[in-house]
Amino acid sequence: MIPGPLVEAEGIVVRFGSTEALKGVDIALGPGEVHGLVGENGAGKSTLGKVIAGVVQPTSGEVRVGGVAPGPTSPKDALSKGIALIHQEPLTFPDLSVAENVFIGHQPTGALGLMSWAEMRRKAQALLDSLGVRLRPDALVRGLSIADQQMVELAAALSHDARVLIMDETTASITPNEVAQLFGIVRRLRDSGCAIAFVSHRLEEIFEICDRVTVLRDGAKIGERKISDTNVGEVVHMMVGRSVESLGFPSEREPGEALLEVRGLTLRGAFQNIDFTLRAGEIVGLAGLVGAGRTELAEAIFGARPIDSGDVLVRSKPTRIRSPRDAIRAGIAMSPEDRQHDGLLLPQSVSRNSSLALLPKLFPTGWLNEKRENALASEYAQRLRTAMRSVAQPVRELSGGNQQKVVLAKWLATQPSVLIVDEPTRGVDIGAKAEVHRVMRDLANSGIAILMISSDLPEVLSMSDRILVMRQGRMVCEIPGPEASAESVMLAAAGGTT
Ligand SMILES: Nc1ncnc2c1ncn2[C@@H]1O[C@H](COP(=O)(O)OP(=O)(O)OP(=O)(O)O)[C@@H](O)[C@H]1O
Ligand SMILES: [Mg+2]
Repeated sequence: MIPGPLVEAEGIVVRFGSTEALKGVDIALGPGEVHGLVGENGAGKSTLGKVIAGVVQPTSGEVRVGGVAPGPTSPKDALSKGIALIHQEPLTFPDLSVAENVFIGHQPTGALGLMSWAEMRRKAQALLDSLGVRLRPDALVRGLSIADQQMVELAAALSHDARVLIMDETTASITPNEVAQLFGIVRRLRDSGCAIAFVSHRLEEIFEICDRVTVLRDGAKIGERKISDTNVGEVVHMMVGRSVESLGFPSEREPGEALLEVRGLTLRGAFQNIDFTLRAGEIVGLAGLVGAGRTELAEAIFGARPIDSGDVLVRSKPTRIRSPRDAIRAGIAMSPEDRQHDGLLLPQSVSRNSSLALLPKLFPTGWLNEKRENALASEYAQRLRTAMRSVAQPVRELSGGNQQKVVLAKWLATQPSVLIVDEPTRGVDIGAKAEVHRVMRDLANSGIAILMISSDLPEVLSMSDRILVMRQGRMVCEIPGPEASAESVMLAAAGGTT
């Protein structure tokens, strides 16, 4: 007998005010199966995951767990039913240790019902080991990379013996090596009979790890396929209802004057003796594994971290950059990796967020000029094709990809001459990604120098005029765009020889 699905959702409708995020969606998650969930930004993937995990209650429709309705009434109820959600943006507690995060709400108790720290540490260590993750149970979560925080969430889910795991863009912010490691874990969980819903914008991942895929568009289920019965072209067509231009190649831009030169930049414990030059009209990819020091380097150039030694030259002039304000004044902008913490004021409107970096410029007198603010936000929303009800909508309500576009709008509005982007298309769907890439190329063509940190190899290869590779805090090589291959970049990043 074929075992029935662990979770079924039928006719799920979710309304947020006037937005219908899901319009009657069915999905069944079977044991021993990885079920891909794809669709453009705002299609309803995260909402469907949240319904199954009890975070959002459906307006109508039914969730059954092991054939029994009703579904989870809260995340806690979901966990007790063996359903866990690994969030798109990790929901960890920064001031607690790894072990405390893993066992939040259900600490192991010792004799007399007292919480046993030793027991908790031991169990956390065992879970981390089973995931093959090198994290100390005592370490504070603050300061961990997104990848590590996701591992903490995963360990927490497993601590509840979850049989149904919903992974919402878990691979979006991690490097190819970490993806491979995660896939090893996913396969093991699948083989042990778990049901896994896997959300990703990277179709190559869907085709690698999933047994089945469901496509959503504008809150509706467009179709479901067995992976062995479909192909990328069909899935893309189902997602967007049209065909999308594939990734292009770097144009033949002639690099212009040196806009940013970095000489011997060192921050002990993060990076050493970094030299490179960015020229007008160039897109330079900065590749490396998580922990290679790329984000730290970018933050140091942007004045968000102090440096120990070295110089930064802007248009050949030595420039002291001690704060982001100094950097913005010098014409440097930086779109951060972690948009929810560093990039956006979530409760505020699209309009306010778009003008955040510009406030001193827009309102020199200190008066808020809402008209100009709204006009500016509308202009960039149009350019980036940000999906939203209006520029007055709180950013919190936008889907992940559209939030990313607001971060980009905010920095583009400062009209920088050097733009540093850290994972610019993390969590951005293929249609929007093509648009972000187009915007970046337009910016480069207009003479801006772009430094692009990305863990998305196809993106690095297709966008970069040159690729710099960092490993363990050092710049290990520079590869001209046309000569680079996935193998050469990975090999340099991982410490092999080319
Ligand atoms: N709390 C909320 N309040 C209002 N609208 C919401 C809320 N959460 C989601 N939405 C809306 O519901 C729709 C579906 O959003 P959802 O986050 O499920 O999309 P998604 O497919 O996960 O997109 P992405 O790929 O960008 O993560 C979007 O239009 C979004 O703006
Ligand atoms: Mg989402």
